[in-house]
Amino acid sequence: MGTYETRLARARDILNEKSIDVLLLTDGYNIHYVTGYAGHEGMALIFNDQAVVLTDSRYTEAAAKEAPCFTVVDIKSEGYGKTIRRILAEAGVREDASIGFEDRQISYRQMKRLSEDLSERTVWVEIGDAAEYLRYLKDPEEIECLARAEAIGDEAFAHILTVLKPGMTEREVALALEVSMRERGASGLSFDTIAASGENSSMPHAVPTDRVLSEGDFLTMDFGCIYRGYCSDMTRTVLIGKEREAEQIRVYETVLRAQKAALTAIRPGAMTHEVDKIARDIIADAGYGDCFGHGLGHSVGLFIHEEPRLSPKCEKELEPGIVITCEPGIYLPGRFGVRIEDMVVVTEDGYRNLAGSPKELIRV
Ligand code: GLY
Ligand code: MN
Ligand code: MN
Repeated sequence: MGTYETRLARARDILNEKSIDVLLLTDGYNIHYVTGYAGHEGMALIFNDQAVVLTDSRYTEAAAKEAPCFTVVDIKSEGYGKTIRRILAEAGVREDASIGFEDRQISYRQMKRLSEDLSERTVWVEIGDAAEYLRYLKDPEEIECLARAEAIGDEAFAHILTVLKPGMTEREVALALEVSMRERGASGLSFDTIAASGENSSMPHAVPTDRVLSEGDFLTMDFGCIYRGYCSDMTRTVLIGKEREAEQIRVYETVLRAQKAALTAIRPGAMTHEVDKIARDIIADAGYGDCFGHGLGHSVGLFIHEEPRLSPKCEKELEPGIVITCEPGIYLPGRFGVRIEDMVVVTEDGYRNLAGSPKELIRV
């Protein structure tokens, strides 16, 4: 079976698992994964007899090319609900059929409109994470796209090291990284680039400003791109010239030690919360327990933040094919922060690091 035939068959398995007659996908990433259609405007309707992508005239031609196993239907002025009702009626589906919907993603307004436009006898069933779960394990083709996306990040990082200098602003750094990734084949950014220097680096998701890099600053760069639909994610923290205080080096070395120790634990069968704990304990033992508030990592695929996560709150077993970040940080508000992030794929006997950039402290 081809990739999309297999994915459609796996989506159809949800019909049995959830005891539903019809599956309605509304999440753009799930639609992309299952159908191949990447337009992010539309819905996918799947039942035993049919597989349909519904969208509007801006996307119908692209959808027909991208979604080989699906019939593409233009919603025209009818809208989604009435079109779905008509398709189901024409296929002989009963009015009291059960329709599984993406309760995690659909908006209240979309749901209200669908329930108004479909039969009032429709039985609506929440499918929870079932559609996201289809994307959990990446196949070899997906892993190669993710690897290329991360390699573009590595190349952009190597480039930025040749241009970084005191006097540049955070916004200039972010722009240079972004241009560099685009030049190397990225179709876009997987999230807004972070370039945070000096006291701004203590904010894990700082927005780049006009702050000028100066001697003694840490500069944290967290950036990623999209390659053939797949996201990359990496972070490196570098020092501009010489440190201002010895604690900067101690913090950097602690984050690096925590990251390396957690990476070493990544293998099939390892529990996600236990990998998180390895990094968290090292950071806490160094006296910075309160300075690492976020999870250790998250899966990455078509979307930047996917399940499972390396976090105290996620208790899942790692399996080959999971692509996940490892990104400990220590943040001292008003002073400085350090984060180091790689993206790895779990293999049969451990992991393959998709990031290749150096992690020992770089001074520029
Ligand atoms: N910049 C987003 C992340 O690392 O998760
Ligand atoms: Mn990141
Ligand atoms: Mn990340």
